[in-house]
Amino acid sequence: MLPPRLLVYMTISAFCILRVSAVDTFLAAVYEHTVILPNDTLTPVSPEEALALMNQNLDILEEAIAAAAKKGVHIIVTPEDGIYGWDFSRETIYPYLEDIPDPQVNWNPCNNPKRFGYTPVQERLSCLAKENAIYVVANIGDKKPCNSSDPQCPPDGRYQYNTNVVFDSDGKLVARYHKKNLFMGEDQFDSPKMTEVVTFNTTFGKFGIFTCFDILFHDPAVTLVKDFHVDTILFPTAWMNVLPHLSAVEFHSAWAMGMGVNFLAANIHQPLKRMTGSGIYAPNSSRAFHYDMKTNKGKLLISQLDSHPYSSAVNWSTYANSIGTHATGNQEFKGIVFFDKFTFVTLKEVTGNYTVCHKDLCCHLNYKMSEKRSEELYALGAFDGLHTVEGQYYLQICTMLKCKTTNVNSCGESVETASTRFETFSLSGTFGTQYVFPEVLLSEVQLAPGEFQVSRDGQLLSTKPTSGPVLTVTLFGRWYEKDPISDTSSDLRAQALRVMMIIVMPIMYLLS
Ligand SMILES: *[C@@H]1O[C@H](CO)[C@@H](O)[C@H](O)[C@H]1NC(C)=O
Ligand SMILES: *[C@@H]1O[C@H](CO)[C@@H](O)[C@H](O)[C@H]1NC(C)=O
Ligand SMILES: *[C@@H]1O[C@H](CO)[C@@H](O)[C@H](O)[C@H]1NC(C)=O
Ligand SMILES: *[C@@H]1O[C@H](CO)[C@@H](O)[C@H](O)[C@H]1NC(C)=O
Ligand SMILES: *[C@@H]1O[C@H](CO)[C@@H](O)[C@H](O)[C@H]1NC(C)=O
Ligand SMILES: *[C@@H]1O[C@H](CO)[C@@H](O)[C@H](O)[C@H]1NC(C)=O
Repeated sequence: MLPPRLLVYMTISAFCILRVSAVDTFLAAVYEHTVILPNDTLTPVSPEEALALMNQNLDILEEAIAAAAKKGVHIIVTPEDGIYGWDFSRETIYPYLEDIPDPQVNWNPCNNPKRFGYTPVQERLSCLAKENAIYVVANIGDKKPCNSSDPQCPPDGRYQYNTNVVFDSDGKLVARYHKKNLFMGEDQFDSPKMTEVVTFNTTFGKFGIFTCFDILFHDPAVTLVKDFHVDTILFPTAWMNVLPHLSAVEFHSAWAMGMGVNFLAANIHQPLKRMTGSGIYAPNSSRAFHYDMKTNKGKLLISQLDSHPYSSAVNWSTYANSIGTHATGNQEFKGIVFFDKFTFVTLKEVTGNYTVCHKDLCCHLNYKMSEKRSEELYALGAFDGLHTVEGQYYLQICTMLKCKTTNVNSCGESVETASTRFETFSLSGTFGTQYVFPEVLLSEVQLAPGEFQVSRDGQLLSTKPTSGPVLTVTLFGRWYEKDPISDTSSDLRAQALRVMMIIVMPIMYLLS
C-alpha cells in the first residue's frame, strides 16, 4: 500500500502531465526497407495485381511498425517508393494510385474507409497507426482528375503526385505532401503548381515533411525551418549514394546540423542501385545511422530525440574572413568532383595550414594527421559555381578529401576506404551563403558522431582524434539565390536526362 500522501502527490502529478502533456523528448524510428519491386513496371497491371504487390510491401512495413510501437516509439518514417518501387510510366503507375484528400477534411480511413472511394492502402496505413498507437509516415501516389478548364491539365486528364502521408496515433490523416522537386526520370509524376509547405503539431514538437531531391533546394525545405520553425523533418527518400559529398548518411546528417533541426531519413535498401543509408539525426550529432552494401536486409533504427532541439546561430564566414591566407607554395591543380571542376592543393606534410581559393571562395584548413602515409594522398579543394548535372544548383564547397589513388588526377573520384586518421582538423571558408552543411565521413561510409562541432564563427572543428580513417571533411554550401530561375523545369529535366544517358549511367555502373 502506498502512504496516502504519496498517492495524492501521484494523482496531482498525473493530472499535471495530462494538462501540460507536452514532452521534452520522444522516440523516433526510421525503417530502411528492401522494397519488393513489381516484375515489370512498363506493362499495365490490374488494380488487384497492384494492390497485391503493395500489400506484400505493407506486410513488411507492418512488422517494422509493430516492432517500433512495442519499444514505445512515437513516430516511424518509411521510405519513398517503399510500397511499389519506381521506373513506371504515367500509365503503368496509375493502378497503384489513390485519391488522397486534403487532411483538412478530418478523415480517419480506418474508421471510415469508404468516404473517399477505393482507398485500401490509406485504410491499411491508418489502421496500422491506430492499432499500434504510433504516427506512421509513408510515401504513396495521389491522383487528381483535371480537364480542359485547366490549361496545364496533362493530356491523360489527371495529375499524378509522388506523395507523403502521415497518420497520427489514432489513424487520422494529418499531413499530405506532394513532392515538388522531382528527380529526373520520375516522369510518372507531376510537380504541383504551387510548392506545398506542410507542417503538423504534436505533443512532441512541430514537424515538417519533404521528399528526397527536395533536400537540395530552398523550397519547401529551408522555408519549413526558417519561416515555419519546425523541430523535426520527416524525410522519405530513395537515395542513390554518390561519394565524396552526396552519400545519404553524410549529406542528410549534415543538413540536420547546418539547419539546426532533427531529421528522420528513411531510405530504400537496394545495394545494387547504391541505395542504402538511413538515420536519425539531431543538430549536434547523428543519433543512429545505417549503411549496408553487403546484405539485402531491411533495418529498423530507433533513437531518442529532443522535442525542441536547440542549436546556436553560425556565421559561416566570420573566421575565414578574419585570418589571412596561408601561401602553401604547393602547386594548385584542377580536379573533378561529381562533374564540378574544383581547385585543389595536396596536403604534403603530416600537419599544416593551407588555403585554396576558387572564384570568391577561399577555404582554410588547419590539420594534423596521425601519420603521413606514403600510399595515401589527401587534398584541399574549393568550388564556387553552378552545378549543372542531374539538376541545376549553385554550390560553394570547401573540402578536404582522400584522393582515390596517389595520382593527383584521381582527387575527387569516389573512394570508400582510407587508412589515415586525423588528430585534429579545422575547416572554414569565406562563404557568401549562410546555408552550409558540415560533413565528416570516415572510411567505409561511417559517420563520426560526437567527434566534431561547428563554432559560431563558422569553423568545422574536430573535438577529438577521429575514431576511424577519414574519407572527407567538407563544408557543403548551397547559395540558393544564385540558382537559375527555373520555370523551364521540364526542359532542364529533358536536358539532364540526356546528359545522364551519355555520362552518368556508364559512370554509375563503373562505380557499382
Ligand atoms: C514475379 O514473377 C515471379 C515468377 O513468374 C512470380 O513468382 C512472382 O510472384 C512475381 N512477382 C510479382 C510481384 O508479381
Ligand atoms: C472540370 O474540372 C473541374 C474541377 O476539377 C470541375 O469542377 C468541372 O466540373 C469539370 N468540368 C467538366 C466539363 O468536367
Ligand atoms: C503548435 O504548438 C505550438 C506550441 O504548443 C503552438 O504555439 C502553436 O500555435 C501550435 N500550432 C498549431 C497550428 O496548432
Ligand atoms: C557574418 O559576419 C560578417 C563579418 O565577419 C558580416 O559581414 C556578415 O554580415 C555576417 N553575416 C550574417 C548573415 O550575419
Ligand atoms: C595556422 O594558422 C593559425 C591561424 O593563422 C594559427 O593560429 C596556427 O598556429 C597555425 N598552425 C600551424 C600548425 O601553423
Ligand atoms: C547533443 O545534445 C544533447 C542534448 O540535447 C546532449 O545530451 C549530447 O551530449 C550532445 N551531443 C554532443 C555530441 O554534443
